[in-house]
Amino acid sequence: MGSDMQNELTEVIRNLHSYIRLLSDFGVRSVRAFDDSCKDEESLGDSARELSSDPEMELQALRSRIGQCSRCPLSTGRKSIVFGEGNAGASLVLVGEGPGKEEDLTAKPFVGEAGRLLDKILKAMGLDRGQVYICNVVKCRPPKNRVPTEEEMSVCGRFLDEQLSIIRPRHILALGSTATRYLLKTDKSIGKLRGRFFVHESTGARVMPTYHPAYLLRNESAKRPVWADVQQVMAEMDVPRRSLDHETD
Ligand code: URA
Repeated sequence: MGSDMQNELTEVIRNLHSYIRLLSDFGVRSVRAFDDSCKDEESLGDSARELSSDPEMELQALRSRIGQCSRCPLSTGRKSIVFGEGNAGASLVLVGEGPGKEEDLTAKPFVGEAGRLLDKILKAMGLDRGQVYICNVVKCRPPKNRVPTEEEMSVCGRFLDEQLSIIRPRHILALGSTATRYLLKTDKSIGKLRGRFFVHESTGARVMPTYHPAYLLRNESAKRPVWADVQQVMAEMDVPRRSLDHETD
C-alpha cells in the first residue's frame, strides 16, 4: 500500500474513532455497519457487522493488553493482577490504592475487611457492586501492603487512566490519599482535600476525595465525614438520602 493511501486510511480510522466516541457519549452502545439490504452481510460475520463501542468489550481488550504484566517491580511479588470489576457503564467509579492479601488471592478488588466495609457504605448509598465500578491505582499487591512508589503508580496508573476514559463516569470516589494524589496530581493531604469536588482532568468526571475504608476500620470517628462526602455524591447522582449509622456499625 502506498504511503498516501496509508495516510488516508489512518485519517478515516481516526475520524471513525471520534465519531464512535461521540455516539458513545450520547449513550449509543453499538452501531450497525451495514444496512439490512446489504446482500453480503451474512458472509461478513458478526465482528464485521458491528462496530462496537461497548465499554465492557473495551475493558476486556485493555485487560488482554495488560496480559501477564511485568512492567514494574510489583509483578514479582504478586499472585494475581487485580484489574477491577463492576459495571462498565457505571456513572460512579470507586478508586482505591492497590490490592491487599485477599485481593491478591482472589483477583477481585476490595474483598477483604476494608472491602466489606465498602460494601456497607455502598449499601447505605442505595447501591451495590453491580451498579458501580471498583478498581485501584496499582493492579498488583505491593509487598507488605506498602504504599506504591511514584514509579509504580505512573507505570500502572495509565491503565487506570484508560479504564476511566472507557467507562467515562460522572463521579469518581477517590478512596484515601494514594488514589486522591494520583487522580488529582496533588501532594495535599486527604484531610485537606476531602469533602469537596474536583474535576478529573482527562475525563471531566467530578472527583470526591474521602478517607479510605481501611482508615475507617482504625478510626471510627472518620465515619461521619465519609458519610458526609458520599452524601454529596449521592445528591448529585439523585440517590435518595439514608442514614449510614445502622449500615456501617
Ligand atoms: N485496599 C485498596 O486500596 N484496594 C483494594 O482492592 C483492597 C484494599
